[in-house]
Amino acid sequence: MFNIPDDLNLRIPGPTPLPAEVREALAQPMMSHRSRTFGAIHAEVAEGLREMLRTTNDVFVLTASGTGAMEAAVVNTLSPGDSVLSAAGGKFGERFRTIASAYGADIVPLDHTWGTAAAPDDIGAALDEHPDVRAVLVTHNETSTGVTNPLRDIASVVKANNTPPLLIVDAISSAGCIELEVDAWNIDVLVTGSQKGWMIPPGLAYIAFSDAAWAAHAQATMPRFYFDLTAAKKKLLANQTPWTPAVNLFYGLTAALRLMRQEGVDNIWSRHQRVADHTRQRVQEMELELFATPQYASNTVTAVQAPADLDVAELRRRLAEKHRVILSGGHGPLKGKIFRIGHLGNVSEPAIDAALAAVAEELAER
Ligand SMILES: Cc1ncc(COP(=O)(O)O)c(C=O)c1O
Repeated sequence: MFNIPDDLNLRIPGPTPLPAEVREALAQPMMSHRSRTFGAIHAEVAEGLREMLRTTNDVFVLTASGTGAMEAAVVNTLSPGDSVLSAAGGKFGERFRTIASAYGADIVPLDHTWGTAAAPDDIGAALDEHPDVRAVLVTHNETSTGVTNPLRDIASVVKANNTPPLLIVDAISSAGCIELEVDAWNIDVLVTGSQKGWMIPPGLAYIAFSDAAWAAHAQATMPRFYFDLTAAKKKLLANQTPWTPAVNLFYGLTAALRLMRQEGVDNIWSRHQRVADHTRQRVQEMELELFATPQYASNTVTAVQAPADLDVAELRRRLAEKHRVILSGGHGPLKGKIFRIGHLGNVSEPAIDAALAAVAEELAER
């Protein structure tokens, strides 16, 4: 209908390509979201998500994009005037801060240079300096720069003192792809989005919520309605959602989680590591430079520095038109300076090789 080629090589960091099983599931007939069958789907999805996120905490599926879940994380745990430490080194870290600020949080900003990672010691020092901080906002994988922050170490610093602040994590482009242990690492609130490693279209977001998050929720006074997790919790017990959910995305998610559980979470993490290593190696063989600090280079998205004489927009246009390869550009200050290759979800080496062969051809033809 829209003439989207079946062999489109969609190599952006989300939305990601859909497995055939997911496409088939998405096309199933509509049903009542108050039916028993939907309840069974909801139960299977919640169990699958808890397995993938390595948590026994409540996990809610919201009908929203990832940003909606970021907003839900903030408004369900905080009150206006609360002191919030916000670590940011890219567009999405900044977005988390903007959301908290929009609802009246008192932000303690902690910035790190785009392309580098947040330093756990800096976070520890900021917490020592601001003992009143109630929550720490962290982006696990900063999609705009291709950097994965050392979340495990950050979490142990945040949780080191006797009355630790809440740890609230944007794992939108990492969960289901990169090593991440919600319970073992003591993450209070974690959000992620369906169109990334979860291999379904945009439109759902998941939020894992710990006991400490529930304790904070009981005191939190930021305004909320659609995203009020008290309402979601009431319905969760009946395997339903408070409002009408995106029913067919739940079908797709059921199919995707079956694939993911079959592969196994450790194998999924290793596949992402392997494909990312392969991508970085091939990029360097092409004598292109990687943007992110090597130690923190992301396993879901690779940012490549554009040679000074390269018109990134033109390269992307040619890749799309001639090769059906879709790459992302840079955001904000990185516009025109980098291009980004997504390698998350339904991905293996041949798709990367095809995309990079097209890039090599276009670079040679300049
Ligand atoms: C790390 C990160 N945070 C937040 C978002 C925003 O998610 P959405 O566009 O689904 O609202 C994205 C999307 O790319 C992301 O990669």
